Amino acid sequence: MADQAMLRVGIVGAGGIARGQHIPGYRLCDAVEVVALCDVDETALREVGEMVGATRLTSDYEALVGMDDLDVVDICTYPNTHHPIAMAAIAQSKHVFCEKPLALTYPLAREMTEAAEAAGLVTGVGFTHRLTPAAQLAHHLVSSGALGELYQVVAVYSMGHAGFLHRPMRERATRAVTGGGPLFELGPHMVDMIRWWTGTEISAVCAQNRTFVRKRRWIGTGEWADVDIEDASTFLADLDDGAMAVFSHSSAVTGRNFDQRVEVYGSRGALLYDQARPYELRACIGEEMVELCSGYGLYDPLWGLYRQEEPYPVLPVPRRFVDTVPGAQEGRPVRSFVPAFVDSIRGAPSPLLPTFCDGMQAQQVLDAVLLSAAERRWVDVSSVS
Ligand SMILES: NC(=O)c1ccc[n+]([C@@H]2O[C@H](COP(=O)([O-])OP(=O)(O)OC[C@H]3O[C@@H](n4cnc5c(N)ncnc54)[C@H](O)[C@@H]3O)[C@@H](O)[C@H]2O)c1
Repeated sequence: MADQAMLRVGIVGAGGIARGQHIPGYRLCDAVEVVALCDVDETALREVGEMVGATRLTSDYEALVGMDDLDVVDICTYPNTHHPIAMAAIAQSKHVFCEKPLALTYPLAREMTEAAEAAGLVTGVGFTHRLTPAAQLAHHLVSSGALGELYQVVAVYSMGHAGFLHRPMRERATRAVTGGGPLFELGPHMVDMIRWWTGTEISAVCAQNRTFVRKRRWIGTGEWADVDIEDASTFLADLDDGAMAVFSHSSAVTGRNFDQRVEVYGSRGALLYDQARPYELRACIGEEMVELCSGYGLYDPLWGLYRQEEPYPVLPVPRRFVDTVPGAQEGRPVRSFVPAFVDSIRGAPSPLLPTFCDGMQAQQVLDAVLLSAAERRWVDVSSVS
């Protein structure tokens, strides 16, 4: 690709996601250079600056987005900063990749989306779970209609950590900085996943949010503070096509850590997705299979009919859904949408790439969930503006 023009990137935020997904993603791209870096933490700035060989280091994002020769601004900071940084970058005609959640509220996300569209800029959002090979296969099966009319979706994404009870209070665990708890941290991924698989929007929600540990001690000072974000969020959802769904997001899954699973049931088939098994689904598709799987179960003299084991057989993910993971073909897969974003800038848009529009749609659902939980009632997502 010797004739490709060099693409110059500036990254704002040199923390975990920048190091773990974005920078490795840029390393897979031809003719892309991370030339500038911004972080308010001097140590992170210096470390990551050395790691990527960026010479222009700053703690002021305005200075970074104002650099004339940058083509791309990549936002890897906390959610409360996504909107101002993106708007500043768009005003400077930079293509923008932004981490999730796109913004703290739907109106802010819409403003970002409309500004980028009006300026004709390419956008990307870090809904990286779309890249999981099993999620791609599930998307193929659901979106092709293989499951028939969709009836029910159950989506769970939890991340409990050791020491949940005594976790300290951090800036990042406040509504002003992060927007919410697991609803904002994990929820955008699952809302996006279900929108993407089904090709339909969530039209209404009925939610329950709960904060179990209501006071935590500030990290550093040890002073007590009121917790203003939820530890768990569950909501029922209507999908536009008539299907019903239940979503559950939690950081209070006692004694468990990462857990991301989805079940989809339709008139002609069903599938079970578990991110812990990224190269397979369990599926049952077509009349014969549905008949066969429904017949599983054992009669036991004591317990009556009970399920013998998981009735759906394992469906291994075909190679093509593994090969789409950036770097997989070279034996160094990276869960990053950065290469697809770069391709889009170069005129070869990837159908997998989530855009600001996807981030905005997910945000509207999150806002509806917050409102529903606060008022303890069903909320039409379109009424959130
Ligand atoms: N897509 C995914 O799977 C995924 C996974 C983890 C985190 N994230 C998202 O990535 C974002 C960052 O999360 P993280 O885990 O990397 O956090 P982090 O704390 O590891 O890194 C964030 C960095 O941003 C810097 N920062 C904060 N405000 C800044 C500002 N105004 N200007 C410049 N730098 C600033 C911080 O100093 C820190 O170094 C969040 O929005 C989070 O939700 C996405």
